[in-house]
Amino acid sequence: MTNENFRGGMGTRSKQLPWWLFLSAMLLFSCKTHGADTLSAGLTLSGSQTLISPNGNFELGFFSPGKSANRIYIGIWYKNFVSRIVVWVANRNIPISNPSQIELKIAEDGNLVILSASKIIWSTDLPSNSSNTSSSLEAVLLDSGNFVLRDGPNSSAVIWQSFDHPTDTWLPGGKLGLNKLTKQSLNLTSWKNSEDPASGMFSVGADPNGSSQYFIKWNMSKTYWSSGVWNGHIFSLVPEMRTNYIYNFSYVSNENENYFTYSVYNTSILSRLIMDLSGQIRQLTWLNGVWDWNIFWAQPKQQCDVYALCGAFGSCNEKNISMCECLQGFEARSSEETSLSDWSGGCVRGTPLQCQNNTSDNGDQDGFIPMHNMSWPENPQSLPIGSAKECKLACLNKCSCTAYAYNGSGCSIWDGDLLNLRKISDGDSGKQIFYLRLAASEVKSFAGSRNKRQLWVTVVLPISLTILISGFFICCLCIRKLKATGEKESGEDLLLFDVDMSIIATNDELNEASELGKGGKDFKLPLFSFASISAATDDFSVANKLGEGGFGPVYKVRLKLVTQVI
Ligand SMILES: *[C@@H]1O[C@H](CO)[C@@H](O)[C@H](O)[C@H]1NC(C)=O
Ligand SMILES: *[C@@H]1O[C@H](CO)[C@@H](O)[C@H](O)[C@H]1NC(C)=O
Ligand SMILES: *[C@@H]1O[C@H](CO)[C@@H](O)[C@H](O)[C@H]1NC(C)=O
Ligand SMILES: *[C@@H]1O[C@H](CO)[C@@H](O)[C@H](O)[C@H]1NC(C)=O
Ligand SMILES: *[C@@H]1O[C@H](CO)[C@@H](O)[C@H](O)[C@H]1NC(C)=O
Ligand SMILES: *[C@@H]1O[C@H](CO)[C@@H](O)[C@H](O)[C@H]1NC(C)=O
Ligand SMILES: *[C@@H]1O[C@H](CO)[C@@H](O)[C@H](O)[C@H]1NC(C)=O
Ligand SMILES: *[C@@H]1O[C@H](CO)[C@@H](O)[C@H](O)[C@H]1NC(C)=O
Ligand SMILES: *[C@@H]1O[C@H](CO)[C@@H](O)[C@H](O)[C@H]1NC(C)=O
Ligand SMILES: *[C@@H]1O[C@H](CO)[C@@H](O)[C@H](O)[C@H]1NC(C)=O
Ligand SMILES: *[C@@H]1O[C@H](CO)[C@@H](O)[C@H](O)[C@H]1NC(C)=O
Ligand SMILES: *[C@@H]1O[C@H](CO)[C@@H](O)[C@H](O)[C@H]1NC(C)=O
Repeated sequence: MTNENFRGGMGTRSKQLPWWLFLSAMLLFSCKTHGADTLSAGLTLSGSQTLISPNGNFELGFFSPGKSANRIYIGIWYKNFVSRIVVWVANRNIPISNPSQIELKIAEDGNLVILSASKIIWSTDLPSNSSNTSSSLEAVLLDSGNFVLRDGPNSSAVIWQSFDHPTDTWLPGGKLGLNKLTKQSLNLTSWKNSEDPASGMFSVGADPNGSSQYFIKWNMSKTYWSSGVWNGHIFSLVPEMRTNYIYNFSYVSNENENYFTYSVYNTSILSRLIMDLSGQIRQLTWLNGVWDWNIFWAQPKQQCDVYALCGAFGSCNEKNISMCECLQGFEARSSEETSLSDWSGGCVRGTPLQCQNNTSDNGDQDGFIPMHNMSWPENPQSLPIGSAKECKLACLNKCSCTAYAYNGSGCSIWDGDLLNLRKISDGDSGKQIFYLRLAASEVKSFAGSRNKRQLWVTVVLPISLTILISGFFICCLCIRKLKATGEKESGEDLLLFDVDMSIIATNDELNEASELGKGGKDFKLPLFSFASISAATDDFSVANKLGEGGFGPVYKVRLKLVTQVI
């Protein structure tokens, strides 16, 4: 979303071109597109024709997002970018499937309409007493990116404008607020996914009660962020606005409306505010030198504070680029949607619970697995129960119960979908453990995988490594004896190490090591220096001492195998 390339741009436009080149370019251009900013009454826009704002920043036309050729929309995008950044979509919830015979025009009744095979698909729906049928009606794409329907070129009486019907983008000069007469609030609503402009789960808009606050809501109902009230300079909960030298924000409140608008001091800077798919609002600025969109600020600041970002039974991890993950025993409802950054579908069980379906899992009773390092789901119900065993039973006996937790003082259970789970980073893991209900077979495979891993790490690996390492030591010893050089033994190259070693490697390290082996590279034996062993055992700390072997103390050594491979 933030690494679009910029083609040409203002720099090249200001250079003087030979007039004939300019003229032929214009001719070529006008054959392919309208190249104009205005659609007059009686004319139509169709096919690959577009309108271009006078400053060349914005373009309006037909487009199909992503790979879908049979979902056609009318929208406005930045003109000079290689990848299309759409700032407005007329028919976001009504895509057109038939690419032929689509037109945009001003209808006889004065409405701006989209026609597909002569049928009206989308219309500005002006109230019949305010529409105007004069022949000087025109639809114009302005420099600001606003598409207006107006009566005549010098008429300031705008009949309809796209700025009053935003999709997910708020451009400088637009208003975001509340019409006090109609009680309608202008909201920005996120796209459904990165290839579908249909209304998604997240929206931002003014307080319908008329205060100066703005809210971000999930599914138009659950508020998960509020701006705080406007104090004349900033919103009380957005202190970042104080150190702002780019935007001129202003709040207007009168008897008809409350709204917030902004402009950019340097009008040649491109800027937009979006309600992102990620559930954050983001203020973005195009940086000419860097050729990238810079996120000026984003709210809520923590990505995992977005309500239900990962859907039911999904967990959010601030530290992972992919953010969302399904809980153990669950899989994404739609991998196609999650690949387009839409996790609203959440995750579904791999195996139904026994209580939901008598016949599944041979009727074995459901079990629980512990969830470590994970915040508690939303909406726990507390039960007056005094022991962990009873708490577990209370959950087991209720078919809708999906998880329980017992923390010494009380029992909590959860009904139905688990929402807002979040991986807790190292350090503040706390003692928040809760137990997730799974079908018996899932519990078995969870326990099995853990046992198998443990067997590997604690038995197979140490034995094989010990054999290899001792073999290596013996070889070295032989070579040294053969060479019989007068070199003094330095502490750095201590190869003889009179201890038995048990190496505890993590799964990742093992995978890396085995991949190295597969990749054709020689997987040579590690050469341990005294320093590395000392570091790996934390200076031979007692904490890492596993016990005394026949040849001396045994230390737990944690090594990053790859970095040790020679
Ligand atoms: C249009 O009609 C509505 C009610 O039908 C009325 O409230 C409104 O004032 C009218 N507008 C104009 C411009 O006449
Ligand atoms: C409608 O058009 C007439 C001229 O045809 C003009 O005088 C009038 O102001 C227009 N009304 C609106 C609401 O634009
Ligand atoms: C519209 O603009 C043109 C040129 O700018 C001017 O000559 C004309 O008088 C204007 N018409 C009206 C009604 O303002
Ligand atoms: C969006 O608009 C509707 C109706 O105007 C309103 O009820 C809703 O609360 C708004 N959503 C947000 C996030 O403000
Ligand atoms: C808005 O008004 C309604 C009814 O007056 C009230 O129940 C609600 O709490 C108010 N919301 C806020 C955010 O003030
Ligand atoms: C969103 O809200 C609608 C209407 O209020 C409701 O029918 C729908 O189930 C909600 N979606 C989710 C995922 O809860
Ligand atoms: C900021 O915006 C307001 C309202 O749009 C305007 O009156 C004011 O002149 C602007 N300030 C600057 C420094 O551009
Ligand atoms: C406005 O921005 C452009 C491009 O970012 C820059 O070249 C120009 O100097 C700026 N103008 C002012 C007055 O800061
Ligand atoms: C990040 O997420 C991916 C995909 O869900 C997962 O495979 C990977 O293990 C995660 N990484 C970490 C460090 O959690
Ligand atoms: C399970 O199946 C038995 C008979 O096969 C039936 O009596 C019982 O009600 C079923 N239980 C549930 C929870 O569906
Ligand atoms: C119950 O489980 C059986 C076997 O796993 C499956 O064939 C059947 O479709 C399931 N029924 C329901 C209602 O989930
Ligand atoms: C939980 O986090 C701690 C500290 O980061 C870590 O040592 C432990 O292995 C984690 N537990 C699980 C089951 O991931």
